[in-house]
Amino acid sequence: MASSIIISSTLIACTLCLMNGTLLAQLTPEFYSQSCPRVFEAVRLVFRDAVARERRMGASLLRLHFHDCFVNGCDGSVLLDDTPTFRGEKTAAPNNNSARGFEVIDMIKSNVERVCPGVVSCADILAITALESVLALGGPTWTVKLGRRDSKSASLAAANSGVIPPPQSTLSNLINRFQAVGLSTQDMVALSGAHTIGQARCTTFRARVYNDTNIDPAFAKLQQSNCPLPTGSGDNNLAPLDVESPDDFDNSYYQNLISQKGLLRSDQQLHNGGSTDSLVEEYSGNPQSFYEDFAAAMVKMGDIRPLTGANGEIRKKCRVVNS
Ligand code: HEM
Ligand SMILES: *[C@@H]1O[C@H](CO)[C@@H](O)[C@H](O)[C@H]1NC(C)=O
Ligand SMILES: *[C@@H]1O[C@H](CO)[C@@H](O)[C@H](O)[C@H]1NC(C)=O
Repeated sequence: MASSIIISSTLIACTLCLMNGTLLAQLTPEFYSQSCPRVFEAVRLVFRDAVARERRMGASLLRLHFHDCFVNGCDGSVLLDDTPTFRGEKTAAPNNNSARGFEVIDMIKSNVERVCPGVVSCADILAITALESVLALGGPTWTVKLGRRDSKSASLAAANSGVIPPPQSTLSNLINRFQAVGLSTQDMVALSGAHTIGQARCTTFRARVYNDTNIDPAFAKLQQSNCPLPTGSGDNNLAPLDVESPDDFDNSYYQNLISQKGLLRSDQQLHNGGSTDSLVEEYSGNPQSFYEDFAAAMVKMGDIRPLTGANGEIRKKCRVVNS
């Protein structure tokens, strides 16, 4: 009797504490509805300007959110410059000479600080900008969850540890790397559709276009012409990840895979006789189905291990932790 009273009062206490904990710990679309109702507008104003100057910026900023979330969660760590006490993620293999758009994030953050100083995290700005990127290039919308806080550190080692899969990945490595952050194989295939926009450097696809056999021969020749041998020459030459329409967020990425025109080895792995072939075929014929799954997967990716509550901070400048 006594113990059942204790149990039930514990249950009551715990339900309340869970509710409180939940309110603090979970991301929600309304997080800034009182504290910064104009945050979306403040982001969009600056971002639209940047993407009008250069369409590729939409691709580059979408990718920053991915690289942020896959390394210790969506905590703005990718934005931190190196300091005397830590080396950040910017020079890690997946980012060095490759991740870009940091100055645009700085401009967006300044504008958001002007409207609501000290309120909106850099991690949330990346999540909002990822949506803006996809919208600006003609892709689907979704409801962005907010309330992430910013890390006080970043880790070069974590960014180099393989948590961001390299372009030589096999299908099973791609599946495993996404599963490790709570994303399904379907999420992985849908999110890879981000490669319907943006550019890749020759160094990331040279081995594929010279050596692979699961590649359209004319496509391989075309890519070779802009990605010379020997290794080291022309490493930074760019090619569109989607040869058909690099500035449009459409489903032609999947159509390319079916005709063996995936630019990266990892891209072509999604349609190479394995378990994901059927989903690629579905998305290639049904853009609506791709859009729905992509939007849902973006929300899931944005939920990877955020800092909430009293953890982390709201950085004043995205490149440096607050002093
Ligand atoms: C599935 C595993 C993935 C691999 C192996 C991969 C690999 C790569 C590589 C090698 C590049 C070119 C980088 C360079 O030139 O240095 C790239 C570019 C890009 N990736 Fe991925 N990626 C993956 C998933 C994703 C995801 C999930 C997203 C976003 C949701 C994404 C968005 C992009 C975008 C938009 C670009 C072009 C960036 C620009 O033009 O600046 N990628 N990716
Ligand atoms: C990053 O790229 C620069 C310029 O190519 C190079 O000098 C530097 O060694 C690279 N850093 C790392 C950590 O690989
Ligand atoms: C192609 O494969 C051969 C044999 O593995 C390797 O020596 C060569 O470096 C590869 N070429 C490219 C461009 O990666």
